[in-house]
Amino acid sequence: MSRPKIIAGNWKMNCTPAETKELITSLVASERSDTEVVTIVCPPFTSLSAASELLSKSSIVLGAQNLSEHESGAYTAEISASMLVATGVKYVIIGHSERRQYYYETDSLINAKLKIAINTGLFPIFCVGETLEEREAGNSQEVVSGQLLNGVNGLSVENLKNLTVAYEPVWAIGTGKTATPEMAQDMHKFIRENMAKIEPAIANSTPILYGGSVKPDNAAGLLNQPDIDGALVGGASLSADSFMKIIEAA
Ligand code: 13P
Repeated sequence: MSRPKIIAGNWKMNCTPAETKELITSLVASERSDTEVVTIVCPPFTSLSAASELLSKSSIVLGAQNLSEHESGAYTAEISASMLVATGVKYVIIGHSERRQYYYETDSLINAKLKIAINTGLFPIFCVGETLEEREAGNSQEVVSGQLLNGVNGLSVENLKNLTVAYEPVWAIGTGKTATPEMAQDMHKFIRENMAKIEPAIANSTPILYGGSVKPDNAAGLLNQPDIDGALVGGASLSADSFMKIIEAA
């Protein structure tokens, strides 16, 4: 089963609209028409409109980093799925470890966000991953399978077809310590086996991205693994040059 290669840039809390214009202009200028890699950029909310306009004639796809679990209403400062769709957003990162860690997002909240995202026509990039303590205690698989099962609880087969999973070991995020290709492949295979238990019909077609200190010099080794279908890139997605090199390695 061939799955698309996906390289997504999670810009996190970086780039004003002006900086976004600069970065996207460089990305669009170096975009290759002969690539089959699906390229996604996820700027902060305040830069989505600027990004959307600049990407209108590009094959680079727009993503967001979060959304509300509610449809609309009195939820001060929240951004709804339909607002994202109306701004030209196609993908949305859900359950990032920084949201779980600093903003106390739980599996059930993440589950509600996945449901509203898919029901509104967005494609979620659903993040899972263990902390260093959990890995050292030998609990990585248990943690990741729990996050997966709870996250997708109640999603139909049709819903699951729109899902991309990202495995991001927390100890590898922003630390320069990446998982070795073998470690990452083992966990990706385990995630695919779990997806098969959840819904056999979609396990082989679900893209599973790796995230955590992906850089131009380690990207090819990771992306050559059979169950690694792409990367969710933080720091290295903030420079057009390094992000393009990662896309070329895919
Ligand atoms: P870094 O690539 O900066 O480690 O970030 C990874 C990440 O959290 C992407 O979502």
